[in-house]
Amino acid sequence: MNPVEIIRKKRDGQKLTREEMEFLIKGYVDGKIPDYQMSAFLMAVYFNKMDFDETSIFTDIMLRSGIIVDLSDIPGIKVDKHSTGGIGDKVSIILAPMVASCGVPVPMISGRGLGHTGGTLDKLESIPGFKTNLSIAEYKSVISEIGIVMIGQTAEIAPADKKMYALRDVTGTVECIPLIAGSIMSKKLAEGIDALVLDIKVGRGAFMKTKEDAIELARTLIAIGNKFGKQTIGFLTDMSQPLGYAVGNWLEIKECIECLKGKNISDLMEVTYLLGGAMLTLGKKANSIEEGIEICRGAIKSGNAYNKFLQMVKRQGGKVEYIEDPSKYPESKYVKELKSKNEGDIVNIDALEVGLICITLGAGRTKVDDVIDPKAGIVFHKKVGDSVEKGDTIATIYCDNIEKLDQSIKRLEKAILIATEPSTPPKLVHAFIDEKGIHDWN
Ligand code: URA
Repeated sequence: MNPVEIIRKKRDGQKLTREEMEFLIKGYVDGKIPDYQMSAFLMAVYFNKMDFDETSIFTDIMLRSGIIVDLSDIPGIKVDKHSTGGIGDKVSIILAPMVASCGVPVPMISGRGLGHTGGTLDKLESIPGFKTNLSIAEYKSVISEIGIVMIGQTAEIAPADKKMYALRDVTGTVECIPLIAGSIMSKKLAEGIDALVLDIKVGRGAFMKTKEDAIELARTLIAIGNKFGKQTIGFLTDMSQPLGYAVGNWLEIKECIECLKGKNISDLMEVTYLLGGAMLTLGKKANSIEEGIEICRGAIKSGNAYNKFLQMVKRQGGKVEYIEDPSKYPESKYVKELKSKNEGDIVNIDALEVGLICITLGAGRTKVDDVIDPKAGIVFHKKVGDSVEKGDTIATIYCDNIEKLDQSIKRLEKAILIATEPSTPPKLVHAFIDEKGIHDWN
């Protein structure tokens, strides 16, 4: 087969066969197809899409590029959650230990920052010593010993996604439904789960900017999950402003520690409890999502969720002293505050701009081999709907490079809109989606 012919075929809007996709993807994993041809293919898919059959085959090839872990010897219904990506989206780090502490095993394979969005792996790796590159044997022993494990794709699990994810990140080919579906579902189907809860983000900071696109992505992901025999449900949630207050790897871990210890950051914890309730329902530890939410609240209140997090950090090599006392962690060389020049209500915090600014600060990548500064980022003190007085601190910015910090602070000021008319927080949960369709969620 000729890779150029396959790229041309997709470029011209035609449907590819399994053999053609297999040739390209396997060839890429084996190093026979170079980055420039894979980039051209990804861009062709970006513009011409794939139908559902093609997307399912694409997912299957990505899945079979590695091994499919068998966790059937571990008791319990194994449930995972995945988000389509956002800004300040640290939900997994609170959710996974919370759900595991309620008796549902959570084997989680996450990604790194992608495009303007942050990644759970980068956040976890900001914890000194924390290992996300466990072998499959280690992955299995951690989940069977403590009921939770959080790792990244390895050379063994969905290696095609590992390579293509990094390439998409730097070639402008992220925001594409079949590519997102293949990427997410290949990882999730490989990790040995029985059921999956999806958090499909919608808004400026998400890959899907409109509700229509987010619904199409949700339908595709859920249909693929169920087609491959895993019960899959999801929620459409807001990503117009950052979730919680912190954006940036260690800053987000710090916020998670506070929430695991009982702090109620309302938007962050509402989404966390909702997804937790859904996971407990799929894991047969609750009879309804509402009941599951209450059980999750109990796990935070009792300290069980926090203790499970500590146990996981320790088991995966992380230094728990930084979790127990986050003030031990080094701070950025430069820390500046953004003050409000006016009084009024915060009407908008542009999540996309915030994500891009955080990349400039060092919290994300623009090239595959960029090294992340785990300390860099922004902590907001206000959210959409809050009132501010002139001179109030709206955000604190952390960076090791003063020029970048100064550029970023100016840019951040423009990303925050303050007006004299009253403003309210955006609707947080737009819909619940299952195999039967889209349902309202109040
Ligand atoms: N998360 C993933 O794992 N892959 C994508 O393509 C987008 C979000």
